Amino acid sequence: MKIAINTGGGDAPGLNAVIRGAVLAAIHRGWECLGIRRGYGGLMGEDRVVPLDAAAVRGITHLGGTILGTTNRGDPFTWREQCPDGSWVTHDRSDEVVAAFRSLGLDALIAIGGDGSLRIAARLYAKGVPLVGVPKTIDNDVGGTVATFGFDTAVQTATDAIDKLHSTAESHERVMVVEVMGRHAGWIALHSGIAGSADVILIPEIPFDLKKVCDKIRSRETEGRHFSIVVVAEGAAPRGGTVSLVDPEHERLGGMGDKVASSIEKMTGKETRSLVLGHLQRGGSPTTFDRLLGLRFGAAAVRLVAEGRFGCMVALRPPGIAAVPIEEALATPKRVPLDSDTLATARDLGISLGD
Ligand code: F6P
Repeated sequence: MKIAINTGGGDAPGLNAVIRGAVLAAIHRGWECLGIRRGYGGLMGEDRVVPLDAAAVRGITHLGGTILGTTNRGDPFTWREQCPDGSWVTHDRSDEVVAAFRSLGLDALIAIGGDGSLRIAARLYAKGVPLVGVPKTIDNDVGGTVATFGFDTAVQTATDAIDKLHSTAESHERVMVVEVMGRHAGWIALHSGIAGSADVILIPEIPFDLKKVCDKIRSRETEGRHFSIVVVAEGAAPRGGTVSLVDPEHERLGGMGDKVASSIEKMTGKETRSLVLGHLQRGGSPTTFDRLLGLRFGAAAVRLVAEGRFGCMVALRPPGIAAVPIEEALATPKRVPLDSDTLATARDLGISLGD
């Protein structure tokens, strides 16, 4: 058997652990492994294909990023190219990918990615590429799996930041607003906000009312708590309002933290500062949980290839790893359920969810 591995979309801590898990499991079976550089770039003459042997994956479990490189602008079905006059054209280069896959004599592909990359994988599978998916994203928004790797590390980073904000917020008696990632899901905001003892957590699943947010800050004032920490998911939106986009063309979210901060300052008169954690949440060494999940996902993906269960992705279904058809997993993106015990816990702790 000769298999290839690629990583697509935004990077997430744990990608290298998946690569190592898959490569060692493949070598264990006597298979040959190749790494496709930069998503599908390595199959489209943009980049290259590299051999992945035991030496190539030595000492990488704890490293953030991906040794294969990645891109979130590399969809072969809607490939964008700039013309000499500066305008952009989009064309379908997926046949090239399929042809390159075949000419390399590959038997299977392990495609590691979030919902965008898994959607590409599902389309390539429909075109006859035998592949297995591995769900990756700090946002934790891929359906069919209890968790994606990368999420735990991102939550840890956000929680550390919230911890640090407490001392400066309290010293200056300020409101500190921190915007975290997560796209249209509030997982990072909710988990880090609760763990970091935030006073207000705003998530996309619950449209917020600024008056309620300010009521919470004022009630803390009357209790002698002259500072507050507000965690805002980048995809949160006010009731009846819309999300904040920094780049509408690519639907890149951002800016809601600043907007909430300036409204709080106007409405309460409290000095307010805001910060955006941004890509810090994608960086650094994966937590133990993400390393282990990554290694388990990588090895499980090779087992699925061995069983010929193509078109499926590995999924965390404690206590084990399951195989879920990629199409099924993508059908329903995973959002914070409004009846989740984690949300109930936030409310029981007195945290305002802005509603
Ligand atoms: O999907 C991961 C993620 O980090 C989101 O949380 C965020 O909205 C987006 O990617 C940022 O993408 P980029 O790296 O293109 O800025």
